[in-house]
Amino acid sequence: MMTTNKIAVFASGSGSNFQAIHDAIRNGKLAAELVLVVTDKPDAYVLRRAAAAGVEALALRPQDFISKADYERAILIELHSQGAEWLVLAGYMRLIGPVLLEAYPNRIVNIHPSLLPEFPGKDAIGQTLAAGREEAGVTVHFVDAGMDTGPIIAQRTFRLDNRDRQTVEEAVHRIEHELYPATLQKLFSRQ
Ligand code: GRF
Repeated sequence: MMTTNKIAVFASGSGSNFQAIHDAIRNGKLAAELVLVVTDKPDAYVLRRAAAAGVEALALRPQDFISKADYERAILIELHSQGAEWLVLAGYMRLIGPVLLEAYPNRIVNIHPSLLPEFPGKDAIGQTLAAGREEAGVTVHFVDAGMDTGPIIAQRTFRLDNRDRQTVEEAVHRIEHELYPATLQKLFSRQ
């Protein structure tokens, strides 16, 4: 039986990875349906992309809730009402808490701009450059309670011939926009 692979994308910023996933679905490269965009930043550019793509969006500020659990419970209500089966983190700048981890076991994935387990957390590209590495890369992994610590699903590496920060960021994004939809497609087809 064909599953629908209903996905919710979590993002805090520009949402270029949301866009890449949306485009891959539209171009028939990813068999999935984008049912929701979740953001913790009501002014995030990803909301404009969601509106242009006709995808439902939920913007909730964690500071408006008494606890992280309450914040995640509010998200969970919307995830359930949209029938989301997978949570796809793309530049979502928060740790996922027990409420969502328990509701979506092995169904939450993230993309991170380093070759994990090296350089988890913020500014992974800056960390890679500061460490003087000759290679940089991108990792897609399952999400657990830690910061960028879950089991690795896919990685891609490139040589840092040019160490200019903007050039490296552009190279990372190019890789991410191809690797994330392709990895999701593989993941969904083995379910
Ligand atoms: C990406 O580099 C991703 O690896 C990191 O945050 C960035 C999000 O970019 N987790 P965008 O918002 O998808 O453009």
